[in-house]
Amino acid sequence: MTEIQPRKSATPAPTSWEYAPAPESREVVTLRERYDHYVGGEWLEPSETYTTISPSSEESLAQIGQASPEEVGLAVAAARDAFANGWSALPGAERAKYLFRIARILQERAREFAVLESLNGGKPIKESRDVDLPLAAAHFFYYAGWADKLEYAFPNRSPKPLGVAAQIIPWNFPLLMLAWKIAPALACGNTVVLKPAETTPLTALLFCDVVRQAELPPGVVNIVTGDGRTGAALVTHDDVDKIAFTGSTEVGKAIQRELAGSGKRLTLELGGKAANVIFDDAALDQAVEGIVNGIYFNQGHVCCAGSRLLVQESIYEQLIGKLKRRLSTLRVGDPLDKNTDVGAINSKLQLEKIEELVAAGKEEGAEIYQPPCTLPEKGYWFAPTVFTNVAQSYRIAQEEIFGPVLSVLTFRTPDEAVEKANNTMYGLSAGVWTEKGSRILWMAERLRAGVVWANTYNRFDPASPFGGYRESGFGREGGRHGLEPYLRFE
Ligand code: NAI
Ligand code: MG
Repeated sequence: MTEIQPRKSATPAPTSWEYAPAPESREVVTLRERYDHYVGGEWLEPSETYTTISPSSEESLAQIGQASPEEVGLAVAAARDAFANGWSALPGAERAKYLFRIARILQERAREFAVLESLNGGKPIKESRDVDLPLAAAHFFYYAGWADKLEYAFPNRSPKPLGVAAQIIPWNFPLLMLAWKIAPALACGNTVVLKPAETTPLTALLFCDVVRQAELPPGVVNIVTGDGRTGAALVTHDDVDKIAFTGSTEVGKAIQRELAGSGKRLTLELGGKAANVIFDDAALDQAVEGIVNGIYFNQGHVCCAGSRLLVQESIYEQLIGKLKRRLSTLRVGDPLDKNTDVGAINSKLQLEKIEELVAAGKEEGAEIYQPPCTLPEKGYWFAPTVFTNVAQSYRIAQEEIFGPVLSVLTFRTPDEAVEKANNTMYGLSAGVWTEKGSRILWMAERLRAGVVWANTYNRFDPASPFGGYRESGFGREGGRHGLEPYLRFE
């Protein structure tokens, strides 16, 4: 046997490994100088514009239309025309063909969409590439499958489309939220006017290209851009039959007040303050991955984010130690770098909101931890943050921060875990980590949340309905349940 030779060189083994930059190329994306509204299958020149930027560099990307009530009116008229003159009467199997086509084109152009999503919204390319795009395409595939089976989904109830759906979406998952809204609406035979969020309009505008490529009849999908004023004009338009809104609880409530008595149908998907509950028998290393995925995924700009960590007291020290170690390995920076874990905060406004709540957390007496990391100088950034010593009454335990900020609380018994988890005005999602199947079921029965994940977090599938209780809104998106808000029954 040969003897093992000791290392000759005196060079010590490196204690850490630096990642080389791994930028995704921007070349797949061609930006226009100005984007118009997409109305009746044509580009409609906006009367007013604003600039959309990249939040990671503050670089200007393009001029975007700020739709006036008149322009919104033209879009609604185009949608009404398309609804009345063909689309609603088309057999489901024919509508399905268009949806299948859209899904396939999204897959073919996935790289282009992923780069544009990260550029305009600040999220890491590995998330837009591996989560947003595949899920958006999957949604169109899924609802394409339902289009000719509505009679089977709702037997003996004669499902019929509603008409024109106005859809208002946020900036955290721009293309994915578009897919969640447009796919079921079209599958059910409605036409739509969709308004993307003002900070992230670009993938919705690129989607107009997909709609053209798929040869969808003009007016079935219309896109108008602009801020809350455009959204309000859409909500109050007389000829809209249904409003689907995802965004803040504040605006959701205002829309509900506005629509009271109008007969218009409404679904609201609003905020959350989800509890992620870790029992002492959980597989702790997996739980740490789930905690990280729950709150640092997409910079915490996630309505179902696991923003309140509830840890059983007996494992508290051990778990927090592991979590802090894991945080020090997160890479914060350029969204287009394939190794980036945490990208840019979506806007200056959102960064200010996060900073305000974090300051309140310190003020109220919580203990803050942030791993050492260098944030880029330009753009909007916030380091991954953990608050310990948090009381239930603190603002950081009550209010949605919508940033990479975790508030840690503890519990002793399962009953106490349930009580603390449900001590919120929201009810969108929750997580449970334990080895015991019976305890998972026991918890799931008692947690007032639309989705309960067990030994995982932030897992999505188009076949699975999603939506909230209480101030998280009402109505479900995804699954067979997601068809219902777009149908009337005779
Ligand atoms: P927001 O609710 O103002 O914006 C969401 C969408 O609604 C955007 O398209 C916006 O243009 C539109 N909008 C705004 N005012 C409107 C009005 N009066 N009528 C009709 N549409 C209107 O949310 P914002 O200001 O961007 O974020 C504030 C907070 O809301 C965040 O910090 C976060 O806590 C929460 N939020 C929750 C989301 C979720 O997925 N549940 C998504 C976005 C924000
Ligand atoms: Mg707002």
